[in-house]
Amino acid sequence: MDTMLLFQDAAGFATPMLAVFAVDVATGKDADPLVALLTTSDAVSNAAAPMLATGEFRATLGEVLLLHRPDGLRAERLVVVGLGKAKTLSVDAVRKAAGTAVRTAKPRGVRDMAIAFPEDHALDDEHLENLPCTLLSRSIIEGAAIAEVDWDTYRSDRKDLSVHSLTLLARDFEETTKKEIQIGFEEGQIVGDAQNFARELVNEPGNILTPTELGKRAKAMCDEVGLKCEVYSTEKLLELGMGAFHAVAKGSAEPPALIVMTYEPKLEKGKSLPKDAPVIGLVGKGITFDTGGISIKPADGMDKMKYDMAGSAAMIGAMKAISALKPAVKVISVVCSAENMPGSKAYKPGDVLKAMSGKTIEVLNTDAEGRLVLADGLHYAKTLGCTHLINAATLTGACVVALGIINAGLFSNDEDAFQKFLGAMSISGENFWRLPCTDDYKDTIKSQIADIMNTGGTRWGGAISAAMFLREFAGDTPWVHLDIAGCAWNDEVKPWQTKGPSGIAVRSIIEWVRSFAT
Ligand code: BES
Ligand code: ZN
Ligand code: ZN
Repeated sequence: MDTMLLFQDAAGFATPMLAVFAVDVATGKDADPLVALLTTSDAVSNAAAPMLATGEFRATLGEVLLLHRPDGLRAERLVVVGLGKAKTLSVDAVRKAAGTAVRTAKPRGVRDMAIAFPEDHALDDEHLENLPCTLLSRSIIEGAAIAEVDWDTYRSDRKDLSVHSLTLLARDFEETTKKEIQIGFEEGQIVGDAQNFARELVNEPGNILTPTELGKRAKAMCDEVGLKCEVYSTEKLLELGMGAFHAVAKGSAEPPALIVMTYEPKLEKGKSLPKDAPVIGLVGKGITFDTGGISIKPADGMDKMKYDMAGSAAMIGAMKAISALKPAVKVISVVCSAENMPGSKAYKPGDVLKAMSGKTIEVLNTDAEGRLVLADGLHYAKTLGCTHLINAATLTGACVVALGIINAGLFSNDEDAFQKFLGAMSISGENFWRLPCTDDYKDTIKSQIADIMNTGGTRWGGAISAAMFLREFAGDTPWVHLDIAGCAWNDEVKPWQTKGPSGIAVRSIIEWVRSFAT
């Protein structure tokens, strides 16, 4: 989808479909909705007025009103998209509503469309403070990009319903505002594209996206955007002493892939990063299929385990965006990819492994493989010089039990890293909920015969025992762990997004990294 930004009157723009946002400005609990269009164009307001007067449209989030041949506009169709209550309006609602507009266009065969930048007639200053222009234009473009995707490339009866071009129309604001909108517009393209790249990887079936193939795709992306990328396999794992990662890979005929991507900021001539500048490590769980290994999973729903590499996809996507956003901070991403299979060489319950850090691990369940590959990935990232770590992983079913599918789990050993992540969330609009990983839980992974074991002794607090395991390998390095098991795959269709891979964590990771830039 090509995107354009134009500063001109929406009413005078000729397009097959013009989308404009609306809010409900009614206050009071039981008040009837009072719909206000977020436009300063009288022509647009007049065109929608008769339909709005019927009261049928309530401007709830994702609600759509479609008018053909709107009076006084050059657009062939006018789509009014609800954002919900004005009082609680968020950038995330704008992202979703922009997506809704695109998904309204697609099945109707509309190939070219425009979205009117929300203008603030109806909103008071209190709302505008939370909705800076840069974030607004950015989220519109992100939402549109996410919404444009349908996962039909493997279908022989595929009908191409792509939207070819999207124009963001903003009125002729003053120059500083135009600049802000322009910056957000460009960031939105970069971030939306990165999130879709991650989603594409997650969507791929396990027979196609093997660890080797994941390595190839990461390498191809890095070559395209000018990032350094090395892809290693079994030999390197053995050489580095990655006994935990290697054990997981052993049960499969598919060789593992250790993918290392590096972003070095290019500073102005004569400038260099301070010696003690942070180096950010992005570590991803890249299990391209998780059968559970010898502790095999039940057949029901096992097909879903192709998305067990969503954490690594998030990191690869984030690196793509980082290469384009160019923050002044060094970033290294370590992706640990393997297939967890019960082959004849598979690791077994009861085995004792030696991780790269030297810690010994008793295996109680081979289905707790994600923490094993991450253990070596986190430690390796530290040896490469990372001073701050973040990892993302579809790590535990227990996290899904605890938080459901609205919030992903977040754990951290460092208040500053956590605060930075909260800041990142306020921009990304993604939902993570912090769970504890304090010393009180240390005993949950105590082993009889080794340093630690790879599951908690009981089912209780399974997301926490997994986090406690990872914490052993992060050590004193500030670290954030994202357990995205419940949020990486959407089972429900939404007005703004189809079913399937969500691309969760890409946006937050990008912002977290940027928060370290000097
Ligand atoms: N990949 C799974 C976790 C998962 C579950 C991801 C549901 C997405 C949706 C992970 O490797 C796993 O199997 N974890 C086990 C750990 C247990 C054996 C301690 C789990 O959660 O049951
Ligand atoms: Zn597993
Ligand atoms: Zn897994």
